[in-house]
Amino acid sequence: MKVVVVGGTSLIGSRVIEQLKQKGHEAIAAAPNTGVNTITGEGLKEAMAGAQVVIDLANSPSFEDRAALKFFEISGRNLLVAEAAAGVRHHVALSIVGTDRTPDNGYFRAKVAQEKLIEASGIPYTIIRSTQFMEFLRGIAASSPNENRVRMGVIPK
Ligand SMILES: NC(=O)c1ccc[n+]([C@@H]2O[C@H](COP(=O)([O-])OP(=O)(O)OC[C@H]3O[C@@H](n4cnc5c(N)ncnc54)[C@H](OP(=O)(O)O)[C@@H]3O)[C@@H](O)[C@H]2O)c1
Repeated sequence: MKVVVVGGTSLIGSRVIEQLKQKGHEAIAAAPNTGVNTITGEGLKEAMAGAQVVIDLANSPSFEDRAALKFFEISGRNLLVAEAAAGVRHHVALSIVGTDRTPDNGYFRAKVAQEKLIEASGIPYTIIRSTQFMEFLRGIAASSPNENRVRMGVIPK
């Protein structure tokens, strides 16, 4: 089966590509570094041709509130239009646990916008909400204003 992994060069994407290939699938890494850009549309049509499943693991180059929202809205729209035109059968996206319960976080608002576009697209989909990857721990700790104390946020129930 041809599976296009948008953001297939990302931290998680490269691992997904590896596992799909191990299972015998034709796994295509679609990212600016491989000539596919969901913002400009470059290479999208060609990448989607013959694909049955698209896994969206692209990430905004900027985590600033407005930039992230713009990225996920434009990227999501362009991608879903290209998928519909190519007859892609299933769309998979990776979101984050608690996005809809943390509206004061701009990046989370952008992920909610991405989820809404998918839900309205008419393409069968799976949205997976994962917790933050362990690889981010060092960065979260380093962003603490107090070098000797690390504060971890808790999402309210
Ligand atoms: N990291 C986490 O803890 C976590 C947790 C839950 C969910 N997620 C979600 O998982 C996804 C991947 O996160 P990550 O941390 O693995 O990403 P990442 O390592 O920051 O990689 C970003 C990916 O997005 C691609 N990309 C950037 N601009 C693009 C564009 N215009 N068109 C197509 N692809 C583009 C990059 O391609 P190039 O290599 O060509 O630049 C790269 O493959 C994101 O949607 C994120 O919200 C992440």
